[in-house]
Amino acid sequence: MTTVIKNGTIVTADLTYKADVLILGGVITAIGAGLSGDKVLDASGCYVMPGGIDPHTHLEMPFMGTYSSDDFESGTRAALAGGTTMVVDFALPAPGQGLLDALQMWHNKTGRANCDFSFHMAITWWGEQVFNEMKTVVDQGITSFKHFLAYKGALMVNDDELFHSFSRCADLGALAMVHAENGDVVAELSARLLAAGNTGPEAHAYSRPPQVEGEATNRAIMIADMAGVPLYVVHTSCEDSHEAIRRARMQGKRVWGEPLIQHLTLDESEYFNPDWDHAARRVMSPPFRSKQHQDSLWAGLQSGSLSVVATDHCAFTTAQKRFGMGDFTKIPNGTGGLEDRMPMLWTHGVATGRLTMNEFVAVTSTNIAKILNCYPKKGAVLVGADADLVVWDPAKSKVISAGSQQSSIDYNVFEGKVVKGLPRYTLSRGQVAVEDGEVKTREGHGHFVGREARPAVNRALSAWKELTAPRPVQRGGIPASGV
Ligand code: URP
Ligand code: ZN
Ligand code: ZN
Ligand code: ZN
Repeated sequence: MTTVIKNGTIVTADLTYKADVLILGGVITAIGAGLSGDKVLDASGCYVMPGGIDPHTHLEMPFMGTYSSDDFESGTRAALAGGTTMVVDFALPAPGQGLLDALQMWHNKTGRANCDFSFHMAITWWGEQVFNEMKTVVDQGITSFKHFLAYKGALMVNDDELFHSFSRCADLGALAMVHAENGDVVAELSARLLAAGNTGPEAHAYSRPPQVEGEATNRAIMIADMAGVPLYVVHTSCEDSHEAIRRARMQGKRVWGEPLIQHLTLDESEYFNPDWDHAARRVMSPPFRSKQHQDSLWAGLQSGSLSVVATDHCAFTTAQKRFGMGDFTKIPNGTGGLEDRMPMLWTHGVATGRLTMNEFVAVTSTNIAKILNCYPKKGAVLVGADADLVVWDPAKSKVISAGSQQSSIDYNVFEGKVVKGLPRYTLSRGQVAVEDGEVKTREGHGHFVGREARPAVNRALSAWKELTAPRPVQRGGIPASGV
């Protein structure tokens, strides 16, 4: 059975034009004028865009003594409701656990996924087993490896481990990723704050100033350059980190920065709300920043020095957040956003004139597919691409509210915000998952998307080969003394 999307305007990362889209067997089979099909979806007044890809989610993740509350069912349902048709989640081995073991655990979580998904693999410790299993992980279609420079005593790796893993990524043609915050400094600042009686959620922000992010981003960029590997910096939240990424890119290094919709639209004043729950619900790492840092992130998206917008969706209920009452270091870190990323970015980016529609498509979908090497299967409106599409109605609006969201948690960090620009239809491989606000997702419809490795492209500017190759130096013996 064919489906045709009629009367819409196609918006891609580089083109805007009127055409119909024909779908058969989950893929786009024709684009042009006057197409017909068995099922007709009317896109009058709408934009037909590649479905969003969220490159950064944590679904049902064991973390800080609990599990993030949205699983692959509710998380992907939330994604589709907001126009996102693929998520990339982090398989997270416990320190000492094998990568293949962790990967199997993650695959086992996905049976009820409503939309397509892929994985990054986290490197949380180092050893021969990890070195060896990284190759198998790449062979199984997971070609990006995430490293935490924060969460000391849990997930954090040191610089020795980082350099070993980055070098291995370079050899395998994989992408290195980093959560860039200096975990040693965060741990020390946290201890000092607690000792001084600062136990509330606002102290979480004090313990992670922009400098800890700037330092770690600079360090990761330099180590990636020495290893000769491209680097993706997750949740870039401040000018200090953005500045390092911008400079690296100007030097020709393959470095990408990923601001989150939360950091773009919410600021540090959230932590000074007198309601403990309100503030704790917004505890995430890095924390929300001042308006000046927000302006830097928007400027980065406009100029191209920052490449993608994600959510880092890691949702905890109020009850879970309350584990940290009396000690902010025990508040589970993370916020939700999967359902709201696209409407919030449209409202605060496109509708305000900060981003063009084409830039919106680039940062929510196409750039991500290219960086993660699943383009044009994903992130494209092209014949042969998967029919992961959103028919976007710029006139449709709503007030964001926990009461009507798909996420399983009991609040929403964007509560009360008005968004204008929402899906009329969301299609997951041709299957209509959202129709005029009605969510018709199908559990288990989501497939794993494997991604190919590609040769490391940072080597051109790296001193890697020169550093490790023997370079005998001819010296003319010991100079005479007394010169
Ligand atoms: O606070 C956050 N970001 N929680 C999720 C884990 C991570 O650091 O990405
Ligand atoms: Zn070694
Ligand atoms: Zn992180
Ligand atoms: Zn994360």
